[in-house]
Amino acid sequence: MEVRSGGRGGGKKRRRKKRLVVYQSCHAARRDSLKGHAARRDSLKGRATSNGTTPLGVAPHDSLKSLVVLLFFLAAVRLATPRSRAEKLLSKLPTPPLRLPVIGHLHLVGPLPHRSLRELARRHGPDVLLLRLGAVPTLVISSPRAAKAILRTHDNVFLSRPFSAVADVLFYGTTDVGFAPYGEYWRQARKVVTTHLLTVRKVRSGRAAREQEVRLALARVRDAAAARAAVDLSEIFSFFANDVVCQAVTGRLPREQGRNELFHDLLVTNNTELLGGFNLDEYFPSLARLNVVPAKAAKHRKRWDDLLDGLIDKHASKTVSGEHEEEDFIDVLLSVQQEYSLTRDNIKAILMDMFEAGTDTTSISLDFAMAQLIRNPKAMAKLQAEVRRCASRKGKHEIFTEDDLSTMSYLKAVMKEAMRLHPPASFMIPHSSMAECEVEGYTIPSGVRVLLNVWALGRDPACWESAEEFMPERFLEEAMDAASDLQGNDFRLLPFGSGRRMCPAVKFATATFEIILANLIYHFNWELPPGTTGVDMTETFGINVHRKERLRLVPCVAHGV
Ligand code: HEM
Repeated sequence: MEVRSGGRGGGKKRRRKKRLVVYQSCHAARRDSLKGHAARRDSLKGRATSNGTTPLGVAPHDSLKSLVVLLFFLAAVRLATPRSRAEKLLSKLPTPPLRLPVIGHLHLVGPLPHRSLRELARRHGPDVLLLRLGAVPTLVISSPRAAKAILRTHDNVFLSRPFSAVADVLFYGTTDVGFAPYGEYWRQARKVVTTHLLTVRKVRSGRAAREQEVRLALARVRDAAAARAAVDLSEIFSFFANDVVCQAVTGRLPREQGRNELFHDLLVTNNTELLGGFNLDEYFPSLARLNVVPAKAAKHRKRWDDLLDGLIDKHASKTVSGEHEEEDFIDVLLSVQQEYSLTRDNIKAILMDMFEAGTDTTSISLDFAMAQLIRNPKAMAKLQAEVRRCASRKGKHEIFTEDDLSTMSYLKAVMKEAMRLHPPASFMIPHSSMAECEVEGYTIPSGVRVLLNVWALGRDPACWESAEEFMPERFLEEAMDAASDLQGNDFRLLPFGSGRRMCPAVKFATATFEIILANLIYHFNWELPPGTTGVDMTETFGINVHRKERLRLVPCVAHGV
């Protein structure tokens, strides 16, 4: 593994020695982390017994009682155990005072953790803050400077993911990309995704499919406009994003048999019932032994299995029969299966990742962008003026294609501003440290869970003028536009993350975002439904943060489609 040195100066010898120490501890931590994942997985296997009791030998209705006893027992053991080096290091980190037995700081988290954790960081941090969430020490990062230390200076240390019992079941032993711990498997899986599935060439070759999905979405809006009725844009965005990913993953197969809707339903369960929010199983790893949530995840995964197996079989036979059309992700994964030694389960895990990571994130960004445009008529007017000016070269009834978008600087500024204020992943997928490491003057031990509050970075008043205002103009200034390229170089604006764990689909996601928004703004004028006075921006927290209410707006045809 290549390990970059954090500081400048010092002799070659010292640097080499430092590299060796970091390398050895990283390597050991990685080995331990992988062993830990495997051991935890093994301990979770075969948990439910045939008489319907848990491995602790209790019937499900006794679970709560056993849980309380278990947690207090664990707390007592903890108090009686001498403090480890890691504990000593953790005790030096800034932390809020109100730590309760067993639950630690969980009671301070509240229903909107990105907001409550920013407040806690302001009061007790500010850059780094240690929370004891149940049994798990969690480092919360809330400033661009600390984010840079984690994601750039010490990228090689914070490259892993903590174990999640639910993700382990859902993603075939976390052999996807997003939840896979750092190691050879993740490196290979990520390479498959970045060099075969989400390349610039592949994103370009998906243009026709995206434009076809735009036409379908516009047709639905046009029907509502003809009836002068409000349209549920949240739903349109959700199906649009889902269908674009579906097309990329499976080609033309899904819509023909209504499978795109099945994918959509499966994903809703993933996000609302299994992976969403602050999952207690992750903060009380001993809870996973009770097997309630992992069992639910296993049942749900069976439905994914049936769907994905069917599609893979169809693709495998299509390859044999020699039919020729644009290769979708399943075709590509089958074609590189041997080269990368991927099992069928690995392929299914990677495919599921594409849906999990790519659908909600895109539709949520679109939903917030449109909501902000309605709340800010001047910004809406500017965007309309830009798309209509660019459209004057085209026939009135044609849709915008991706070629037409490259000169639309205000559209791109709207996208960045929406993602600054409302990053769909308000926290990045948790990172995990693999070695001891200095951050902002504190030594962070190995094995610490790290939450990066992307939402707080985008609203840091020390970095942004009028941080809470929706002002796309801020990205029109040349210097700002170049610096804030969404590629993880501006640590104030990290909706896609940064470093080696960064989202590999920035091009795919931004192309999807821009093409639908430009067309909706060009072809229609938008109004609030009669009797309503504004858009409710109340949020709810899940695996992503989204608006609580559906976005219902009345379209009025500006240019026919
Ligand atoms: C607006 C849309 C999107 C946003 C805001 C977004 C954001 C993110 C973020 C914040 C991460 C975690 C970075 C970290 O932990 O450091 C991530 C990871 C990931 N995203 Fe995206 N994403 C989007 C769309 C997509 C799409 C469309 C796909 C695939 C089709 C995708 C695939 C992935 C994968 C595979 C990872 C895991 C990377 C790894 O752990 O190595 N994302 N994304």
